[in-house]
Amino acid sequence: MKNKKVLEEMTPYKPGKQMEEVKKEYGLSRIVKLASNENPYGHSEQIDTYMSQAGIGYHFYPDGYTSELRSAVAAKLNVSETKLLFGSGTDEIIQIIGRAFLYPGANTVMATPTFPQYKHSARIEGAEVREVPLMNGKHDLDGMLDAVDESTNIVWLCSPNNPTGCVIPKDDFYTFMDACPSDVLVVLDEAYYEYVSSDVHPHVLEHLDNYDNLIVLRTFSKAYGLAGLRVGYGIASESLINRLDVVRGPFNTSSLAQKAAAAAINDDQFVNHSIERNKVVKQSFEQFLDSIGWHYFTSHTNFLLISTPISGDRVFQYLLEKGFIVRAGEAIGAPNSIRVTIGKEKDMEELKEILHQMHLKLEKEQSL
Ligand SMILES: Cc1ncc(COP(=O)(O)O)c(C=O)c1O
Repeated sequence: MKNKKVLEEMTPYKPGKQMEEVKKEYGLSRIVKLASNENPYGHSEQIDTYMSQAGIGYHFYPDGYTSELRSAVAAKLNVSETKLLFGSGTDEIIQIIGRAFLYPGANTVMATPTFPQYKHSARIEGAEVREVPLMNGKHDLDGMLDAVDESTNIVWLCSPNNPTGCVIPKDDFYTFMDACPSDVLVVLDEAYYEYVSSDVHPHVLEHLDNYDNLIVLRTFSKAYGLAGLRVGYGIASESLINRLDVVRGPFNTSSLAQKAAAAAINDDQFVNHSIERNKVVKQSFEQFLDSIGWHYFTSHTNFLLISTPISGDRVFQYLLEKGFIVRAGEAIGAPNSIRVTIGKEKDMEELKEILHQMHLKLEKEQSL
């Protein structure tokens, strides 16, 4: 068959292990999943109440314009409804952007390691991928600008960056935007936006009108706890949104997901509680890591990228057998490390104990 040649060199996305699979494989009764940066506190209770009353009418196609959710997001962010594009997770918005802007002969610039879907989608479109290594966990914005040339169509910025959790400082972001050619689309992926404290944040939406070549991505999958329903969105100028909207499938977010996200966005209490708990539990986990001397990047998210004294794969396996699913660094372009989602306090206490035992074992082995 005559499929795109590049597909033969690529592999499908390999998701983290599923909980039931791990339970069965290792004969465990309980699993703690800390692999995909989901919200361990669940989601707004208002969603359950709302869903039981809503009478969604699943036999109809969903609202292709996402009207109710659109109004709710526009009001919350104080942006015009015409500046929003909704997708089945930010993942789909990334695909839409790739389809609209990339083709053979064009190139796209991104950090490495960063969120892998930027590269995945660019390769499928046949574009050249230019990866600029992070510097101490942060985007090398000067290096990324150097990589831009007349064939560059998109620059991807991930802030906070997955997997390091580091943010792009606001002054650096605006310096970058002012230096970047205005015909290059800049995608600022803020999937972890809600976790970032206000003082370090660039508050881009207030300046969106100054940059026609900028799109900001946000999601309901992280702080809002709706990863399973798949809703993400982009915010950009109306003309850019209109161009991307041509590529979007007509009914790309389900009725259920639209209703749930519209209910979730106004439950500040739930989101604030999650952010507050995350902060406290993360701090305590960081203190523990300091005590055993394992390095981690300063993270403005609900996860930490931790350097491990042995391969990340080995630490991953050790933890897996004890019922904790984390992400091995090797799988996400950060060897000798693990990425751990900050879970609930009790689970993190248990994880500390397991890591402490592992640390003692490694120290003993080294001294022999
Ligand atoms: C930086 C970043 N962008 C986008 C996504 C995709 O999120 P969604 O669930 O909205 O597709 C993730 C998920 O892990 C992420 O970490």
